[in-house]
Amino acid sequence: DPQQLELATSSKRKLRRFIVMDEVVDKLYGSQVRRYFEANNVQYEILALPTTEETKSMDLVLSILREVQAFSIDRRTEPIIAIGGGVCLDIVGLAASLYRRRTPYIRVPTTLLSYVDASVGAKNGVNFLQCKNKLGGYTPPMASFLDRSFIQSIPRRHISNGLGEILKMALMKHKGLFDLLKSHGKYLLDTKFQSYSDSTGRGDAALQTTRIAIETMLEELAPNLWEDDLDRLVDFGHLISPELEMRVLPSLMHGEAVTIDMAFMTYVAHARGLLSCEEKEQIIECMRGLELPVWHSACTWHLIQRALVERLKHGGGRPRMPLPTGLGVAEIFNDTSEETLKEAYQLWVGD
Ligand SMILES: NC(=O)c1ccc[n+]([C@@H]2O[C@H](COP(=O)([O-])OP(=O)(O)OC[C@H]3O[C@@H](n4cnc5c(N)ncnc54)[C@H](O)[C@@H]3O)[C@@H](O)[C@H]2O)c1
Ligand SMILES: [Zn+2]
Repeated sequence: DPQQLELATSSKRKLRRFIVMDEVVDKLYGSQVRRYFEANNVQYEILALPTTEETKSMDLVLSILREVQAFSIDRRTEPIIAIGGGVCLDIVGLAASLYRRRTPYIRVPTTLLSYVDASVGAKNGVNFLQCKNKLGGYTPPMASFLDRSFIQSIPRRHISNGLGEILKMALMKHKGLFDLLKSHGKYLLDTKFQSYSDSTGRGDAALQTTRIAIETMLEELAPNLWEDDLDRLVDFGHLISPELEMRVLPSLMHGEAVTIDMAFMTYVAHARGLLSCEEKEQIIECMRGLELPVWHSACTWHLIQRALVERLKHGGGRPRMPLPTGLGVAEIFNDTSEETLKEAYQLWVGD
């Protein structure tokens, strides 16, 4: 914020910032970040932490808070900055929401998944008693700073992982986004979402894809920030996948498990007569093109049944099943019969 910088330089008091950074990100970009703060005469402290699914716990939140307390920040003017993947953003968001009842914080996502997903909402949290995100809250960041250049250093499989969540938005809400993924998926994987002005004329595919994904996500989240309305299209791919993901941990990444769930649901939509055979094939082909799995041996009929029972519990007695009703359009259904699910399952496994 140039205005604030000017104010700071004209006053005696230095700007101060407390930054929590994922350890891997620190190794790659830490020196650039330090140079930035030094060039702007900011007094800063960077806390580099191993922020992984295994360490995503209250213990890590407390160690952040101890350091924040020692650094002593002004709650009104000195936001905590989180730089890292979704795990880092979630942990720091929770720490900030607890410190002095609520300290502003800023999210800087560095993976594709966190860039299009975790950067947008208000949610934060940590795992507790082996349950994913069991403790947490809804505290929106004061800002999210989006810089796609971080994404160039994440492994190819992680790009596919993020593409899984983008495909979710495409299938639920945006045919244009689906078309982009279909035609430029491999290019986006190869170029790791960096923009190039090359002769192929596809340099902007990365910008377009991320922009539409984030806009459609915002459209869904903004009117339902506290999730009072349980009918959520963004739950597509998230009915069966939590059970599957936890079952085979750590072999499937989140976006991969989500895609397996979406593939099954695509067959359900087909079995219900909502999707033609050709549309179903297009969706599955697109998933394969994004180098995402469309099936998993651990996704048994028994697991699906169990996951749907869980869903009923959390959905106030209704399955609230988002299903595509075409390419880029969807509705929520509460009346899919067991017979249809079974028929879809057999067809899916057979293919
Ligand atoms: N709050 C929300 O709304 C929301 C939304 C979606 C996901 N999430 C959470 O996000 C988490 C998943 O996020 P994720 O996929 O970003 O995983 P992650 O945060 O675990 O990061 C994955 C790995 O990538 C490394 N990494 C991060 N940035 C890098 C970079 N630029 N270059 C190289 N390596 C880098 C990290 O060190 C880590 O090992 C889950 O815990 C999920 O619950 C939260
Ligand atoms: Zn998800």
